[in-house]
Amino acid sequence: MTLELGVLVSGTGTNLQAILDAVAEGRLDARVRVVISNKAGAKGLDRARAHGVPAVVVSHRDHETRESFDRAVVEALRAHGVDHVVLAGFMRVITSVLLDAFPDRVVNIHPSLLPAFPGVDAQAQALAHGVKVSGCTVHFVDGGVDSGPIIGQRSVPVLEGDSRDVLANRILAQEHELLVESLEALARGELGLETGESGRRRVIRKPSGDAPG
Ligand code: GRF
Repeated sequence: MTLELGVLVSGTGTNLQAILDAVAEGRLDARVRVVISNKAGAKGLDRARAHGVPAVVVSHRDHETRESFDRAVVEALRAHGVDHVVLAGFMRVITSVLLDAFPDRVVNIHPSLLPAFPGVDAQAQALAHGVKVSGCTVHFVDGGVDSGPIIGQRSVPVLEGDSRDVLANRILAQEHELLVESLEALARGELGLETGESGRRRVIRKPSGDAPG
């Protein structure tokens, strides 16, 4: 199934670039239909334009509530024919307005091995805790913060003397590969969701062809 992607960015957009490159090189069965940012100056918007992808700004400052902001984002996503949403360095907490519009179809990438270090600056959290291994996680977004069913993870060593930026760049290189790999599995219908005894939902890998469910 070709994924019709809407990608939400807030910053440099290197994860978006990884998606754009994979699509252009035929490594990902998807089309990036629109890139949306809450920040007008986000470099990710320039990356979209360079690939001829519509780049839309929805400023959170124009909306009194998170729900109102999300409604504007959903409207833009629907206007561009999106069926799956990727949060790629998107720094806003989304609400049920977006999740209900795209149930089990919102994917996020986070720079830690969740459930460790959710929230902001996960790289600095990892260094502060003195962990020896960190990494990144791609997951379906649920109502929590960085808490949805995990699709894939990649680990990296944390080395003596690592600065936050050195660690962040080591993780980022893995994010780019993991995100494309995870979206390709989604496009192939290889991701299922099951509920375990604990009541938590988990992603299971299936033979290609079936939709999640
Ligand atoms: C990445 O580490 C991502 O995991 C986090 O924001 C960082 C910036 O990503 N959410 P990008 O270069 O804007 O894609």
